[in-house]
Amino acid sequence: MPGFLIMALESVPVLDLSRQYKNLLPEVNRAMTRVVESGAFILGPDVNLFEREVAQWMGSKFCLGVSNGTDALFIALRALGIKPNDQVLSSPFTFFATVSATVNSGAEPVFADIDPLTFNLDPNQVEAVLKKDKLKKIKAIIPVHLYGQACDMEALVTLANKYQVALVEDACQSIGAEIQKKKTGNWGHVGCFSLYPTKNLGAVGDAGIVTTQDADLYEKALSIRNHGSKIRYVHDLIGSNFRIDTVQAAALRVFLPHLDEWIRARQNAASYYDEKLARLDWIRIPARARFSTHTFHQYTIRVLSNRREELQKYLSDKKIGHAVYYPIPCHLQKALQSLQYKPGDFPVAEKAAQEVLSLPLFPGITTPEQDYVVGAIAEFFN
Ligand SMILES: Cc1ncc(COP(=O)(O)O)c(C=O)c1O
Repeated sequence: MPGFLIMALESVPVLDLSRQYKNLLPEVNRAMTRVVESGAFILGPDVNLFEREVAQWMGSKFCLGVSNGTDALFIALRALGIKPNDQVLSSPFTFFATVSATVNSGAEPVFADIDPLTFNLDPNQVEAVLKKDKLKKIKAIIPVHLYGQACDMEALVTLANKYQVALVEDACQSIGAEIQKKKTGNWGHVGCFSLYPTKNLGAVGDAGIVTTQDADLYEKALSIRNHGSKIRYVHDLIGSNFRIDTVQAAALRVFLPHLDEWIRARQNAASYYDEKLARLDWIRIPARARFSTHTFHQYTIRVLSNRREELQKYLSDKKIGHAVYYPIPCHLQKALQSLQYKPGDFPVAEKAAQEVLSLPLFPGITTPEQDYVVGAIAEFFN
Protein backbone atom coordinates (compact mmCIF):
# COMPACT_ATOMS: atom_id res chain seq x y z
CA MET A 1 0.00 0.00 0.00
CA PRO A 2 2.78 2.59 0.48
CA GLY A 3 3.20 2.58 -3.33
CA PHE A 4 -0.47 3.52 -3.70
CA LEU A 5 -0.13 6.46 -1.31
CA ILE A 6 2.95 7.84 -3.06
CA MET A 7 1.16 7.54 -6.42
CA ALA A 8 -1.89 9.30 -5.01
CA LEU A 9 0.22 12.21 -3.82
CA GLU A 10 1.85 12.63 -7.20
CA SER A 11 -1.42 13.03 -9.07
CA VAL A 12 -5.11 13.32 -8.36
CA PRO A 13 -7.67 12.45 -11.03
CA VAL A 14 -10.71 14.67 -11.41
CA LEU A 15 -12.80 11.50 -11.17
CA ASP A 16 -12.03 7.79 -10.69
CA LEU A 17 -14.98 5.51 -11.27
CA SER A 18 -12.93 2.36 -10.79
CA ARG A 19 -12.77 3.00 -7.03
CA GLN A 20 -16.53 3.42 -6.81
CA TYR A 21 -17.23 0.23 -8.73
CA LYS A 22 -14.36 -1.98 -7.57
CA ASN A 23 -16.45 -4.22 -5.32
CA LEU A 24 -19.53 -4.18 -7.52
CA LEU A 25 -18.09 -5.45 -10.81
CA PRO A 26 -18.86 -9.16 -10.23
CA GLU A 27 -22.49 -8.23 -9.48
CA VAL A 28 -22.70 -5.98 -12.56
CA ASN A 29 -21.27 -8.78 -14.71
CA ARG A 30 -23.84 -11.22 -13.34
CA ALA A 31 -26.69 -8.77 -13.99
CA MET A 32 -25.57 -8.09 -17.55
CA THR A 33 -24.99 -11.77 -18.27
CA ARG A 34 -28.51 -12.46 -17.04
CA VAL A 35 -29.87 -10.03 -19.65
CA VAL A 36 -27.75 -11.48 -22.44
CA GLU A 37 -28.75 -15.03 -21.55
CA SER A 38 -32.43 -14.11 -21.38
CA GLY A 39 -32.32 -12.42 -24.80
CA ALA A 40 -34.67 -9.71 -23.44
CA PHE A 41 -32.54 -6.85 -24.76
CA ILE A 42 -35.21 -4.27 -25.48
CA LEU A 43 -37.45 -3.09 -22.60
CA GLY A 44 -36.80 -6.36 -20.77
CA PRO A 45 -37.91 -7.04 -17.17
CA ASP A 46 -34.92 -5.15 -15.71
CA VAL A 47 -36.25 -1.90 -17.21
CA ASN A 48 -39.54 -2.25 -15.42
CA LEU A 49 -37.87 -3.23 -12.16
CA PHE A 50 -35.38 -0.36 -12.44
CA GLU A 51 -38.22 2.11 -12.99
CA ARG A 52 -40.10 0.83 -9.96
CA GLU A 53 -37.01 0.91 -7.76
CA VAL A 54 -36.05 4.44 -8.85
CA ALA A 55 -39.63 5.69 -8.41
CA GLN A 56 -39.60 4.33 -4.87
CA TRP A 57 -36.16 5.75 -4.04
CA MET A 58 -37.08 9.09 -5.57
CA GLY A 59 -40.58 9.29 -4.09
CA SER A 60 -42.04 9.81 -7.59
CA LYS A 61 -45.36 8.47 -8.74
CA PHE A 62 -44.09 7.62 -12.24
CA CYS A 63 -40.62 6.97 -13.55
CA LEU A 64 -39.53 6.12 -17.06
CA GLY A 65 -36.10 4.83 -18.12
CA VAL A 66 -34.94 6.58 -21.29
CA SER A 67 -31.92 6.78 -23.58
CA ASN A 68 -30.16 9.77 -21.95
CA GLY A 69 -30.74 13.11 -20.21
CA THR A 70 -30.98 15.15 -23.42
CA ASP A 71 -33.77 12.89 -24.70
CA ALA A 72 -35.45 13.04 -21.27
CA LEU A 73 -35.72 16.83 -21.69
CA PHE A 74 -36.98 16.50 -25.25
CA ILE A 75 -39.60 13.91 -24.23
CA ALA A 76 -40.76 16.20 -21.40
CA LEU A 77 -41.20 19.16 -23.74
CA ARG A 78 -43.04 17.03 -26.31
CA ALA A 79 -45.30 15.47 -23.66
CA LEU A 80 -46.19 18.98 -22.47
CA GLY A 81 -47.14 19.96 -26.01
CA ILE A 82 -44.35 22.50 -26.56
CA LYS A 83 -44.34 23.41 -30.25
CA PRO A 84 -42.82 25.77 -32.83
CA ASN A 85 -43.28 29.47 -31.97
CA ASP A 86 -43.39 28.68 -28.26
CA GLN A 87 -40.56 29.86 -26.06
CA VAL A 88 -38.87 27.97 -23.23
CA LEU A 89 -37.10 29.88 -20.47
CA SER A 90 -33.95 28.47 -18.89
CA SER A 91 -30.54 29.28 -17.50
CA PRO A 92 -27.75 30.55 -19.74
CA PHE A 93 -25.31 28.75 -17.44
CA THR A 94 -25.87 25.06 -18.10
CA PHE A 95 -24.70 22.23 -20.30
CA PHE A 96 -25.87 23.07 -23.83
CA ALA A 97 -28.17 20.00 -23.92
CA THR A 98 -30.79 21.95 -21.95
CA VAL A 99 -30.97 24.39 -24.85
CA SER A 100 -30.61 21.92 -27.70
CA ALA A 101 -33.55 19.90 -26.34
CA THR A 102 -35.60 23.12 -26.45
CA VAL A 103 -34.53 23.95 -30.00
CA ASN A 104 -35.15 20.37 -31.15
CA SER A 105 -38.70 20.58 -29.78
CA GLY A 106 -39.26 23.48 -32.18
CA ALA A 107 -39.35 26.14 -29.46
CA GLU A 108 -37.08 29.15 -29.06
CA PRO A 109 -34.83 29.28 -25.99
CA VAL A 110 -34.99 32.42 -23.84
CA PHE A 111 -32.92 33.07 -20.74
CA ALA A 112 -32.92 34.69 -17.32
CA ASP A 113 -29.76 35.38 -15.37
CA ILE A 114 -28.53 33.27 -12.47
CA ASP A 115 -27.94 33.81 -8.79
CA PRO A 116 -24.24 34.59 -8.25
CA LEU A 117 -23.95 32.37 -5.18
CA THR A 118 -25.67 29.15 -6.27
CA PHE A 119 -25.19 29.49 -10.07
CA ASN A 120 -28.86 28.53 -10.45
CA LEU A 121 -31.72 30.52 -12.03
CA ASP A 122 -32.56 33.62 -10.02
CA PRO A 123 -36.37 33.66 -9.50
CA ASN A 124 -36.41 37.49 -9.56
CA GLN A 125 -34.78 37.48 -12.98
CA VAL A 126 -37.20 34.77 -14.12
CA GLU A 127 -40.16 36.88 -13.06
CA ALA A 128 -38.75 39.94 -14.83
CA VAL A 129 -38.59 37.94 -18.10
CA LEU A 130 -42.08 36.46 -17.62
CA LYS A 131 -43.52 39.94 -16.96
CA LYS A 132 -42.12 41.24 -20.22
CA ASP A 133 -43.65 38.34 -22.18
CA LYS A 134 -46.78 40.24 -23.23
CA LEU A 135 -47.63 37.78 -26.02
CA LYS A 136 -47.40 34.83 -23.58
CA LYS A 137 -45.02 32.93 -25.81
CA ILE A 138 -43.13 31.39 -22.90
CA LYS A 139 -44.80 28.06 -22.26
CA ALA A 140 -42.28 26.36 -19.98
CA ILE A 141 -39.40 27.03 -17.60
CA ILE A 142 -36.49 24.60 -17.28
CA PRO A 143 -34.69 25.20 -13.98
CA VAL A 144 -31.31 23.46 -13.99
CA HIS A 145 -30.12 22.19 -10.61
CA LEU A 146 -26.47 22.82 -11.37
CA TYR A 147 -23.59 20.93 -9.73
CA GLY A 148 -26.02 18.97 -7.51
CA GLN A 149 -27.85 21.75 -5.72
CA ALA A 150 -31.52 22.55 -6.26
CA CYS A 151 -32.89 25.80 -7.62
CA ASP A 152 -35.31 27.74 -5.43
CA MET A 153 -38.22 25.52 -6.46
CA GLU A 154 -40.78 26.99 -4.06
CA ALA A 155 -40.31 30.37 -5.73
CA LEU A 156 -40.30 28.85 -9.23
CA VAL A 157 -43.43 26.76 -8.60
CA THR A 158 -45.18 29.95 -7.43
CA LEU A 159 -44.09 31.75 -10.61
CA ALA A 160 -45.12 28.83 -12.84
CA ASN A 161 -48.58 28.89 -11.29
CA LYS A 162 -48.88 32.67 -11.46
CA TYR A 163 -47.85 32.87 -15.13
CA GLN A 164 -49.45 29.55 -16.13
CA VAL A 165 -46.32 27.94 -17.57
CA ALA A 166 -45.05 24.37 -17.26
CA LEU A 167 -42.02 23.48 -15.13
CA VAL A 168 -39.52 20.91 -16.44
CA GLU A 169 -36.69 20.26 -14.02
CA ASP A 170 -33.29 19.62 -15.54
CA ALA A 171 -32.15 17.41 -12.67
CA CYS A 172 -29.39 15.84 -14.78
CA GLN A 173 -26.79 16.80 -12.15
CA SER A 174 -28.90 16.68 -9.00
CA ILE A 175 -30.19 13.18 -8.40
CA GLY A 176 -30.94 12.93 -4.68
CA ALA A 177 -30.81 16.66 -3.87
CA GLU A 178 -33.70 17.63 -1.62
CA ILE A 179 -35.73 20.65 -0.65
CA GLN A 180 -37.66 19.96 2.56
CA LYS A 181 -37.12 16.22 2.03
CA LYS A 182 -38.70 16.33 -1.44
CA LYS A 183 -36.23 15.33 -4.11
CA THR A 184 -35.45 17.29 -7.26
CA GLY A 185 -37.46 15.91 -10.15
CA ASN A 186 -40.62 15.88 -8.03
CA TRP A 187 -41.20 19.64 -7.90
CA GLY A 188 -42.05 20.39 -11.50
CA HIS A 189 -44.49 18.82 -13.95
CA VAL A 190 -41.66 16.63 -15.23
CA GLY A 191 -38.18 15.79 -13.91
CA CYS A 192 -35.32 14.88 -16.27
CA PHE A 193 -32.18 13.02 -15.24
CA SER A 194 -28.98 12.03 -16.98
CA LEU A 195 -27.33 8.78 -15.98
CA TYR A 196 -24.22 9.53 -18.04
CA PRO A 197 -21.36 7.49 -16.52
CA THR A 198 -19.83 10.44 -14.61
CA LYS A 199 -23.08 11.40 -12.88
CA ASN A 200 -23.73 10.61 -9.20
CA LEU A 201 -25.76 7.65 -10.46
CA GLY A 202 -24.11 6.67 -13.73
CA ALA A 203 -24.82 3.87 -16.17
CA VAL A 204 -22.11 1.95 -18.01
CA GLY A 205 -23.02 3.92 -21.12
CA ASP A 206 -25.82 6.37 -21.85
CA ALA A 207 -29.11 6.36 -19.93
CA GLY A 208 -31.63 8.76 -18.43
CA ILE A 209 -34.85 9.03 -16.45
CA VAL A 210 -38.10 10.97 -16.74
CA THR A 211 -40.19 11.41 -13.59
CA THR A 212 -43.66 12.85 -13.12
CA GLN A 213 -46.58 12.74 -10.71
CA ASP A 214 -49.09 13.16 -13.56
CA ALA A 215 -50.62 10.03 -15.11
CA ASP A 216 -51.46 11.76 -18.38
CA LEU A 217 -47.91 13.12 -18.84
CA TYR A 218 -46.52 9.70 -17.97
CA GLU A 219 -48.69 8.00 -20.61
CA LYS A 220 -47.57 10.53 -23.23
CA ALA A 221 -43.89 10.18 -22.29
CA LEU A 222 -44.19 6.39 -22.34
CA SER A 223 -45.59 6.55 -25.84
CA ILE A 224 -43.05 9.14 -27.12
CA ARG A 225 -40.22 6.92 -25.82
CA ASN A 226 -41.26 4.21 -28.25
CA HIS A 227 -42.28 5.83 -31.55
CA GLY A 228 -45.54 7.23 -30.17
CA SER A 229 -46.81 3.69 -29.93
CA LYS A 230 -48.23 1.62 -27.10
CA ILE A 231 -49.68 -1.09 -29.29
CA ARG A 232 -47.27 -2.48 -31.86
CA TYR A 233 -47.57 -0.70 -35.24
CA VAL A 234 -50.26 1.65 -33.94
CA HIS A 235 -48.90 5.21 -33.60
CA ASP A 236 -50.91 7.83 -31.71
CA LEU A 237 -48.12 10.40 -31.42
CA ILE A 238 -44.89 11.30 -33.16
CA GLY A 239 -42.18 9.88 -30.95
CA SER A 240 -38.87 8.23 -31.62
CA ASN A 241 -36.58 5.59 -30.18
CA PHE A 242 -35.76 6.95 -26.73
CA ARG A 243 -35.63 3.58 -24.94
CA ILE A 244 -33.18 2.80 -22.16
CA ASP A 245 -31.06 -0.30 -22.89
CA THR A 246 -32.01 -3.25 -20.73
CA VAL A 247 -28.33 -3.95 -19.95
CA GLN A 248 -28.02 -0.40 -18.63
CA ALA A 249 -31.10 -0.83 -16.45
CA ALA A 250 -29.64 -4.09 -15.10
CA ALA A 251 -26.32 -2.40 -14.19
CA LEU A 252 -28.13 0.60 -12.70
CA ARG A 253 -30.14 -1.71 -10.43
CA VAL A 254 -26.83 -2.85 -8.94
CA PHE A 255 -25.69 0.76 -8.40
CA LEU A 256 -28.91 2.31 -7.09
CA PRO A 257 -28.75 0.79 -3.56
CA HIS A 258 -25.34 2.48 -3.15
CA LEU A 259 -26.39 5.93 -4.28
CA ASP A 260 -27.16 7.33 -0.80
CA GLU A 261 -23.78 6.19 0.47
CA TRP A 262 -22.02 7.68 -2.60
CA ILE A 263 -23.80 11.01 -2.11
CA ARG A 264 -22.76 11.04 1.56
CA ALA A 265 -19.14 10.35 0.55
CA ARG A 266 -19.27 13.31 -1.85
CA GLN A 267 -20.79 15.55 0.84
CA ASN A 268 -18.12 14.56 3.36
CA ALA A 269 -15.32 15.20 0.87
CA ALA A 270 -16.93 18.58 0.04
CA SER A 271 -17.06 19.56 3.72
CA TYR A 272 -13.38 18.68 4.03
CA TYR A 273 -12.50 20.96 1.09
CA ASP A 274 -14.74 23.70 2.58
CA GLU A 275 -12.92 23.57 5.86
CA LYS A 276 -9.47 23.71 4.26
CA LEU A 277 -10.18 26.16 1.44
CA ALA A 278 -12.43 28.70 3.20
CA ARG A 279 -9.46 30.68 4.50
CA LEU A 280 -8.02 31.38 1.02
CA ASP A 281 -8.88 34.92 -0.07
CA TRP A 282 -8.53 34.41 -3.82
CA ILE A 283 -11.20 31.78 -4.18
CA ARG A 284 -14.80 31.31 -3.09
CA ILE A 285 -15.92 27.89 -1.90
CA PRO A 286 -19.35 26.67 -3.12
CA ALA A 287 -22.24 28.46 -1.42
CA ARG A 288 -24.87 26.26 0.19
CA ALA A 289 -28.43 27.36 -0.54
CA ARG A 290 -30.48 27.69 2.64
CA PHE A 291 -33.32 25.62 1.15
CA SER A 292 -31.54 22.70 -0.59
CA THR A 293 -29.19 19.87 0.22
CA HIS A 294 -26.13 19.69 -2.06
CA THR A 295 -25.16 16.34 -3.59
CA PHE A 296 -21.87 17.69 -4.98
CA HIS A 297 -21.98 16.27 -8.45
CA GLN A 298 -19.28 18.90 -8.79
CA TYR A 299 -17.27 20.77 -6.18
CA THR A 300 -16.98 24.10 -7.96
CA ILE A 301 -15.06 27.07 -6.64
CA ARG A 302 -14.78 30.58 -8.03
CA VAL A 303 -11.28 31.80 -8.81
CA LEU A 304 -11.24 35.58 -8.38
CA SER A 305 -9.13 38.29 -10.05
CA ASN A 306 -8.90 36.66 -13.46
CA ARG A 307 -6.44 34.05 -12.24
CA ARG A 308 -8.31 30.89 -13.24
CA GLU A 309 -6.26 30.07 -16.29
CA GLU A 310 -3.00 30.46 -14.38
CA LEU A 311 -4.30 28.24 -11.59
CA GLN A 312 -5.43 25.63 -14.12
CA LYS A 313 -1.97 25.51 -15.60
CA TYR A 314 -0.46 25.18 -12.12
CA LEU A 315 -2.80 22.31 -11.26
CA SER A 316 -2.06 20.60 -14.58
CA ASP A 317 1.67 20.81 -13.84
CA LYS A 318 0.96 19.12 -10.49
CA LYS A 319 -1.12 16.47 -12.29
CA ILE A 320 -4.27 17.52 -10.47
CA GLY A 321 -7.43 16.99 -12.50
CA HIS A 322 -9.83 19.92 -12.82
CA ALA A 323 -12.55 21.08 -15.19
CA VAL A 324 -14.54 24.15 -16.19
CA TYR A 325 -18.30 23.62 -16.36
CA TYR A 326 -18.99 25.74 -18.46
CA PRO A 327 -16.58 28.15 -20.16
CA ILE A 328 -19.09 29.74 -22.59
CA PRO A 329 -22.62 30.59 -21.49
CA CYS A 330 -25.33 29.23 -23.77
CA HIS A 331 -26.56 32.59 -25.10
CA LEU A 332 -23.07 33.32 -26.51
CA GLN A 333 -22.69 29.98 -28.28
CA LYS A 334 -22.30 30.13 -32.05
CA ALA A 335 -25.17 27.66 -32.44
CA LEU A 336 -27.56 30.37 -31.15
CA GLN A 337 -26.10 33.31 -33.05
CA SER A 338 -29.34 33.78 -34.99
CA LEU A 339 -30.97 34.88 -31.71
CA GLN A 340 -28.53 37.83 -31.59
CA TYR A 341 -27.57 37.71 -27.95
CA LYS A 342 -24.44 39.65 -27.04
CA PRO A 343 -21.92 39.86 -24.20
CA GLY A 344 -23.44 41.73 -21.29
CA ASP A 345 -26.95 40.29 -21.74
CA PHE A 346 -26.57 37.95 -18.73
CA PRO A 347 -23.62 39.36 -16.79
CA VAL A 348 -23.85 37.06 -13.77
CA ALA A 349 -23.69 33.94 -15.95
CA GLU A 350 -20.89 35.44 -18.03
CA LYS A 351 -18.80 36.19 -14.94
CA ALA A 352 -19.43 32.68 -13.59
CA ALA A 353 -18.23 31.21 -16.89
CA GLN A 354 -14.95 33.08 -16.42
CA GLU A 355 -14.43 32.14 -12.78
CA VAL A 356 -15.70 28.62 -12.03
CA LEU A 357 -13.36 25.70 -11.54
CA SER A 358 -14.33 22.19 -10.47
CA LEU A 359 -11.90 20.25 -8.29
CA PRO A 360 -11.43 16.47 -7.96
CA LEU A 361 -14.28 15.00 -5.94
CA PHE A 362 -15.70 11.49 -6.09
CA PRO A 363 -16.57 8.64 -3.72
CA GLY A 364 -13.25 7.08 -2.76
CA ILE A 365 -11.10 10.23 -2.99
CA THR A 366 -8.61 10.02 -0.12
CA THR A 367 -7.71 12.63 2.49
CA PRO A 368 -4.07 12.74 1.28
CA GLU A 369 -5.37 13.43 -2.22
CA GLN A 370 -7.59 16.25 -1.01
CA ASP A 371 -4.70 17.64 1.07
CA TYR A 372 -2.53 17.55 -2.05
CA VAL A 373 -5.15 19.54 -4.00
CA VAL A 374 -5.59 22.06 -1.16
CA GLY A 375 -1.82 22.35 -0.71
CA ALA A 376 -1.29 23.05 -4.41
CA ILE A 377 -3.99 25.76 -4.46
CA ALA A 378 -2.60 27.40 -1.30
CA GLU A 379 0.91 27.27 -2.73
CA PHE A 380 -0.24 28.88 -5.98
CA PHE A 381 -1.76 31.85 -4.18
CA ASN A 382 1.25 32.28 -1.94
C1 LIG B 1 -27.42 20.03 -16.87
C2 LIG B 1 -27.43 18.93 -17.88
N1 LIG B 1 -28.45 18.85 -18.75
C3 LIG B 1 -28.53 17.87 -19.67
C4 LIG B 1 -27.55 16.90 -19.77
C5 LIG B 1 -27.64 15.87 -20.85
O1 LIG B 1 -27.60 14.58 -20.38
P1 LIG B 1 -27.03 13.39 -21.31
O2 LIG B 1 -25.57 13.60 -21.46
O3 LIG B 1 -27.36 12.15 -20.54
O4 LIG B 1 -27.75 13.45 -22.60
C6 LIG B 1 -26.48 16.93 -18.86
C7 LIG B 1 -25.45 15.87 -18.88
O5 LIG B 1 -24.37 15.92 -19.29
C8 LIG B 1 -26.40 17.97 -17.92
O6 LIG B 1 -25.38 18.06 -17.07
